Amino acid sequence: MPEPLDVVVVVGSLRAGSWNRRVGQLLAVRAPSGVSVELVELRDIPPYDNDLELEGEPAAVADFKTRLAAADGVIISTPQYNAGISGVVKNALDWASRPLFAGPLADKPATIVAASPSRNEPLRAAAQARETTWACGAKLAPEPDLTIAGVGHHVDEETGEFDAETSGRAEAFMATFVEFIRTSAAAAEEVA
Ligand code: FNR
Repeated sequence: MPEPLDVVVVVGSLRAGSWNRRVGQLLAVRAPSGVSVELVELRDIPPYDNDLELEGEPAAVADFKTRLAAADGVIISTPQYNAGISGVVKNALDWASRPLFAGPLADKPATIVAASPSRNEPLRAAAQARETTWACGAKLAPEPDLTIAGVGHHVDEETGEFDAETSGRAEAFMATFVEFIRTSAAAAEEVA
């Protein structure tokens, strides 16, 4: 596989201080060497509208889908809202699911990250994100998702740095996902 490996983190929160974006940034820093990680924002993606789609996708949607299609692997980073994923994540994935079976996530190695300030792990958001990403045709990494509870307690308020435990989890998560991407690519080459 050509290097650097291209991994996209879809940031499922719009707010400036998003923990999920900060975790995405941590993943970028902790990625193995030979891997480039880019965060993709969803602010300009309009609500899914089949009429708009048929008229011709809005530029922000087309750019988003092109970016996903080009990536070697995609990480969906989602907040937990009301025991599920954020609306912006679901909306973006609905756009990305089209055309049916041939959207930009079809056969794409993918995995899930969810961070919450709550003391409970955001397991429901992660599970929903996994289910919707699967419905888009993605090839989900079987390893556990990276879910972080009480995320604010894992960051040094003065430096903004994540603690060693969370940094270590992020590093291990990225190493496993990159291995999954490489293994998937090798398996696809064998079949071809
Ligand atoms: C939340 N939050 C939340 N947290 C949680 O652990 N379980 C939940 O069900 C919910 N529900 C929920 C609903 C709504 C409408 C809001 C605004 C918030 C808290 C939420 O996870 C928290 O604000 C995160 O910090 C949001 O993620 P970002 O923006 O920091 O990435």
